Amino acid sequence: MDGKKRESERHNHRNMSRSGRLIAQAVLFTAALLLLPGPAPMDGAAQPAAEKPYFRKQPLPYPENALEPYISARTLSFHYEKHHQGYVNNLNKLVAGTPLAGRSLEEVVRETAGRPDKTAVFNNAAQVWNHDFFWQCMKKGGGGKPAPGKLLRMIETSFGSFERFANAFRTAAASLFGSGYTWLVQEGDALKIVQTSNADTPIAHGQTPLLTCDVWEHSYYLDYQNRRPDFIGAFLDHLVNWEFVESRVR
Ligand SMILES: [Fe+2]
Repeated sequence: MDGKKRESERHNHRNMSRSGRLIAQAVLFTAALLLLPGPAPMDGAAQPAAEKPYFRKQPLPYPENALEPYISARTLSFHYEKHHQGYVNNLNKLVAGTPLAGRSLEEVVRETAGRPDKTAVFNNAAQVWNHDFFWQCMKKGGGGKPAPGKLLRMIETSFGSFERFANAFRTAAASLFGSGYTWLVQEGDALKIVQTSNADTPIAHGQTPLLTCDVWEHSYYLDYQNRRPDFIGAFLDHLVNWEFVESRVR
């Protein structure tokens, strides 16, 4: 065998060895594929972590048409299904993969309040909390004066009379500039009316909210257009759930 032929045989041998390795790798790869788990089930249980809904809005405590004619079903549907749900969706995207995803909603609000690096999280978390609370502050056939009891006594002690409280609440809600909420809050044994702008909330300031009226335009514009005082009047006279408010007194 001359030199050229031996070289040609060594070349063929190397090629055969490489082919053999490729075949072996292909067999191993195929076997590995067969051992992989199947596709994720379609029931939502295996969603990627980023899509997991860490927070949800509370269910409405009444049907969407329950507060008519004072708040239309259309307004309530947009407010609850679009605006409130929008804050929930934003919050879930913002906390995905962060330690805040494991916290309660109130903890997220308190832990992000006043932090410039967490403004977006705070705004959306506080809006979810504020709306959960606002829905509970109303009921069909509500409004007027609360039944005699601890709450009414506290209102009379703090404001002089129920009528003076109602007038002060009406004035505060009507005069709030821009978007926000008017609240009745408890501080110690005293009750106070406070205004908050945009998403701000009394729970970020150590106060106990008893009642709120959402005076963002999305809360009333379809029904009342620019007549915010009429919406506030309907809220106080026909919608406030005083039993819920009293249940919040500490
Ligand atoms: Fe709202």
